[in-house]
Amino acid sequence: MRKYERFTELITSQREPRANHHTLLSCVLPRPIAFVSTLGPDGVPNLAPFSFFTGICANPPAVIFSPAINIKGQEKDTLRNLRESGECVINVVNHEIREAMNQASFPYPPDVNEFEAAGFTPLPSIIVKPPRVAESPAQMEATLIEIVKVGQGPLSGNICICEIKCFHIAQEMCLENGTADIAQIDLVGRLGGDGYSTVRDRFDLPKPSPPGQ
Ligand SMILES: Cc1cc2nc3c(=O)[nH]c(=O)nc-3n(C[C@H](O)[C@H](O)[C@H](O)COP(=O)(O)O)c2cc1C
Repeated sequence: MRKYERFTELITSQREPRANHHTLLSCVLPRPIAFVSTLGPDGVPNLAPFSFFTGICANPPAVIFSPAINIKGQEKDTLRNLRESGECVINVVNHEIREAMNQASFPYPPDVNEFEAAGFTPLPSIIVKPPRVAESPAQMEATLIEIVKVGQGPLSGNICICEIKCFHIAQEMCLENGTADIAQIDLVGRLGGDGYSTVRDRFDLPKPSPPGQ
């Protein structure tokens, strides 16, 4: 294995938040994308992608994602809606819906139905009120456990910890054991800048043998 000897040191406290943001995105990738639906106070459906997103545990099944405070110091609609209603749906993003998902990331005002604006079809959920995205091959109905604030001001984070109450997996790609067929589901990940990746180039790593064998 190659050993690296020289590094560029970037002390985060001496850099602008935006510069740290770009460096972070280039080091933590590919990031899965939570395409989050919530309901606004007037019942307007909201839809937005978040790639500061991951699964965290299975008992209870839970995920986190983080809507940042925007560059003007304002909260995003998803954060406000989730805090108020305590409910969301996390829809996964495959290659087929990548462009419409990107359109939904436009900063529409809260009274715009982003399902309509980006061309998605709402599907009723069975446990929570926000609708699911019919064009997404798997959706997770979820309730809010807690919001943990990280930092203050523009680009600070709000980690939304959510418990998954129901998985929906498109039948044609749901295996007998209740998992999604990774090859068929064809999810995409976010890189830095405008970059994305697929998971079409995969490999297996069997569990390690006990030491000494
Ligand atoms: C693929 C992708 C991933 C994104 N990830 C995040 C993220 O993790 N956190 C964030 O605050 N914004 C993220 N954004 C930007 C939000 O989607 C965007 O600010 C959106 O307008 C928020 O919508 P809302 O105000 O309806 O919640 C991402 C955008 C894209 C296209």
